[in-house]
Amino acid sequence: MSGQQAYALEITDVCKNFSGIQASKDINIRVKEGEIYGIIGPNGAGKTTLFNLITGVYAPTSGSIRFLGTEIAGKPTHEISQMGIARTFQNIRLFGDLTVYQNVLTAYQHNLTYSFLDGILRTKKFRQQEKKAEEVCLDVLRRIGLYDLRDQHASKLPYGQQRRLEIVRAIVTGAKLLLLDEPAAGMNEEESLELSQIIKDIRKDYHVTIVIIDHHMDVIMDVCEQITVINFGEMLTTGTAEEIQSNQAVIDAYLGVNDDAED
Ligand SMILES: Nc1ncnc2c1ncn2[C@@H]1O[C@H](COP(=O)(O)OP(=O)(O)OP(=O)(O)O)[C@@H](O)[C@H]1O
Ligand SMILES: [Mg+2]
Repeated sequence: MSGQQAYALEITDVCKNFSGIQASKDINIRVKEGEIYGIIGPNGAGKTTLFNLITGVYAPTSGSIRFLGTEIAGKPTHEISQMGIARTFQNIRLFGDLTVYQNVLTAYQHNLTYSFLDGILRTKKFRQQEKKAEEVCLDVLRRIGLYDLRDQHASKLPYGQQRRLEIVRAIVTGAKLLLLDEPAAGMNEEESLELSQIIKDIRKDYHVTIVIIDHHMDVIMDVCEQITVINFGEMLTTGTAEEIQSNQAVIDAYLGVNDDAED
């Protein structure tokens, strides 16, 4: 360890071009283990593209992406998720016809190692793993305040609860890195306050590293130790909440101002 910082995620000189559009330009991000890290920027800035690059939906045009020291750029999504990266989606992806509990159990499945035959014969291994699955899934639902809704169909949940359910599904995979794409979207002030607390609790309870994209500055400023601002695919700056809030380039990008200040 001497002098070596343990990074959960290291994005180095990453570029991504989509026929004519440079969605990511020379992105450099270091996320320490156990950190909550924010990515903000105007619509179309290239935030979700970064998550797509980290999770293997796209391979970068150039550059390196390391997860806990291992190069993952260009690996297939299933391999990256097996390594311990889980995400939530800007457009919620749940099984609407399944209950809350079934949605969580489905996400837990890849931790199961019993065979088809174990299942048919209901062997000890099968029974032990089924019991553990139930315990883990119900425990996470309890901690995130969805236990009482466990038998409801996911599609019947209010929007904010659906977003929480997505987070539960990401946690039960056992991931070490959680990528949350606009978890506070559509939430009112009270809900986003609760979400901030949930995110902090998750980090503590599950020892995960979290990268969060959001437009809700109250959530971002409250939970993130470091924040990177992206605009037109490029990094404007990285810093703490206070540093970001007083950065003139950030203020200009957000307000769309192009004033004549040259300092
Ligand atoms: N598969 C793709 N093919 C072509 N262009 C794409 C693709 N995915 C993203 N883009 C483009 O890349 C740019 C960045 O998109 P991205 O979805 O990463 O933005 P974002 O910062 O997440 O925006 P928002 O805040 O609206 O979610 C946009 O111009 C978008 O149209
Ligand atoms: Mg997006």
